[in-house]
Amino acid sequence: MSSNRGNFSSRIGFILAAAGSAVGLGNIWRFPYLAGQNGGAAFLLIYLICIFLLCFPIMVGEIAIGRAAGSDAMGSYTKLGNKRWGYLGLFGILAGVFILSFYNVVAGWAFGYFLEISFGDLLSEGDFGSFFGAYVNDISDNLWFSLGFMILTALIVSRGIQKGVEAANKIMMPSLYVILVALIIYSLTLPNAMAGVKFYLIPELSEIKVQTIFDGLKQAFFSLSLGMGALITYGSYVSKQQNVVSSAAVISIADSSVAFLAGLMVFPLVFSQNMSPTEGPALVFMVLPEVFSDMGPILGRIVGGGFFLLLCFAALTSTISLLEVPTTYLVDQKKLKRTTVVWGLAILIFIIGLPSMMSQGMIPALNQLPFYQGRDFLTFIADMCDLTLTIGGCLMCIFITYQWKVKNMDNELAIGNAGYMSSFLRKYLHFTISYVCPVLLGILSILIILDKFFGLSNIF
Ligand code: PFF
Repeated sequence: MSSNRGNFSSRIGFILAAAGSAVGLGNIWRFPYLAGQNGGAAFLLIYLICIFLLCFPIMVGEIAIGRAAGSDAMGSYTKLGNKRWGYLGLFGILAGVFILSFYNVVAGWAFGYFLEISFGDLLSEGDFGSFFGAYVNDISDNLWFSLGFMILTALIVSRGIQKGVEAANKIMMPSLYVILVALIIYSLTLPNAMAGVKFYLIPELSEIKVQTIFDGLKQAFFSLSLGMGALITYGSYVSKQQNVVSSAAVISIADSSVAFLAGLMVFPLVFSQNMSPTEGPALVFMVLPEVFSDMGPILGRIVGGGFFLLLCFAALTSTISLLEVPTTYLVDQKKLKRTTVVWGLAILIFIIGLPSMMSQGMIPALNQLPFYQGRDFLTFIADMCDLTLTIGGCLMCIFITYQWKVKNMDNELAIGNAGYMSSFLRKYLHFTISYVCPVLLGILSILIILDKFFGLSNIF
């Protein structure tokens, strides 16, 4: 590919950007509520096993494909395979567009909560459950907050890889860790915090059910931003001197550590108020504000505002990567100007997100889809995206094994990593990418379909 596409300036720049893509709402919003619903420590255990045994090899494969081809997701599959495989890349790019469409809506909620807690009087609301219900129903606020978030994302992406993506992540990722650690220290000092820590860290093996494994794998996959070409895209901007395998290891550790730390912050907060950790998606928006409100007007503003700022930073580092994927595609393939592409896509994706935004009660037909067990449109899109990611990951393994061939992946991974060819890791990557991952992801994809359309708990 042309050398004027730009590159990450350094290894740390790439690692922070890829970790930024991985660390997102998935870690701080979704991980704690899934852990809360799935027995806490039992879920954490399954999640960590999935990250290191299954998701890490897929991450290595994606970055290798991107760096070897030096192109966007579709261009990379086409170049290393053929035109037909290129459609797999396109499928991923479209999945990214749909993820961003609903992700930006939830990010808008977080942005709104940050502003309303820090500068408004949200914490003086009596009933946070009804408040959240009314809040997501109110088109005026939602529209502006999520539009604001999309504009922020587009401003950063339009500045290009080094000045935009890399620079923003270099500021936001370290800040995110600082806020997270400060919140954990505070939450651990609260009364009854240790009950939350126990729930979160001492596994009750009897809590591990089919649903736990299934949710853990799905969450690990989403959390590492796999299966849709985000890491192929970022990989295409990585220099040949870098060690892909060790970078992937650092990214996986960075991502899982944020999820781990988010749990370590949320459960002591929840238990300190004797609340239930099993609230589901509402945990962060309904339960935590109650906790912040009980802290009093000043401390509540600081801790609550800090928490939602953290959520915004995490979301923004991910929305950047989600917008970068189709942007790179259009710049590489259609030779369009980056700024035009970025703003065009931002407007388009914002519009695609409107039905998700209005599905939280505003439009009853979108709130209860008859073909989807009465669930709402946003949930439907989010679930379908989970499905496309696991199918995308499964097909990527098949691509490496049967089309590109593992020996070509090896050659790519050996660049910048002298000891790779004789390492045990090489054998491990072959085994997982050729056998374990495609089989498990294939099964997971079928389970997602059964679960979402027929209800897994009715089957197992
Ligand atoms: N990994 C992000 C999260 O955990 O919130 C979500 C995500 C971002 C998924 C980018 C896929 C992606 F390409």
